[in-house]
Amino acid sequence: MDGFDLTSTDRLLATTRTVRRRLDLDAPVELAEIRDCLRLATQAPNVNNSQAWRWVVVTDPGLRERIATYYARAYEDRSAALRAQTAPDDEPGQRLIASTDVLADNLARVPVLVIPCALERLTPDMPIRKAANLYGGILPAVWSLQLALRTRGYGSAFTTLHLHYEREVASLLGIPDDTTQVALIPVARYSGETFRPAPRLPIEEVACVNHWATPFTD
Ligand SMILES: Cc1cc2nc3c(=O)[nH]c(=O)nc-3n(C[C@H](O)[C@H](O)[C@H](O)COP(=O)(O)O)c2cc1C
Repeated sequence: MDGFDLTSTDRLLATTRTVRRRLDLDAPVELAEIRDCLRLATQAPNVNNSQAWRWVVVTDPGLRERIATYYARAYEDRSAALRAQTAPDDEPGQRLIASTDVLADNLARVPVLVIPCALERLTPDMPIRKAANLYGGILPAVWSLQLALRTRGYGSAFTTLHLHYEREVASLLGIPDDTTQVALIPVARYSGETFRPAPRLPIEEVACVNHWATPFTD
């Protein structure tokens, strides 16, 4: 038994949220801390310890601006459907839209954008196991990064919208053709500390024991 402080670790796991509105766009970011978080993130499991990843940390304002323009373009195209599907009295839905609007409007001002890349190109005919290894070889590390950032007072968000322009962003950042960008993680200090567990489906509904049809109940 390693003697973890369960109160803190459970709180970290239960309340690390997607931060969009509370990203502090003016507070400085310590790049040494981002490096520490990346060091911790790369402790995550990965395929045969191949560490087939690269982490592109974008701080240059001009590059952030260009990436944000692609993100906003993708957001404009896709958010219309979300808006149309969300009833005016659907409070959580409307809150989500307001929050995603803020990120799309302000992405260029977020001081650090991290783009995790898998060193393999996803292809349309890739067998399911290979695709699982490609994403599974990096996404645990991405979440570790977000957890480590949180413990140091940084907020982040897992986003994928810029991937509608993945090739354009690749050429902007010199990312080789044989890699796959898996996400874009905006990072900034967060303002306020009122993170709460999110509403999630009961575990009995989403987990089963031994058979798909046997819910995991007490
Ligand atoms: C695969 C994936 C893609 C996502 N893409 C975006 C995105 O492009 N933009 C965004 O604002 N949020 C994005 N999110 C964040 C989700 O909207 C968010 O996790 C969800 O609303 C639950 O909120 P929570 O993380 O605070 O619990 C993405 C999350 C995942 C897991």
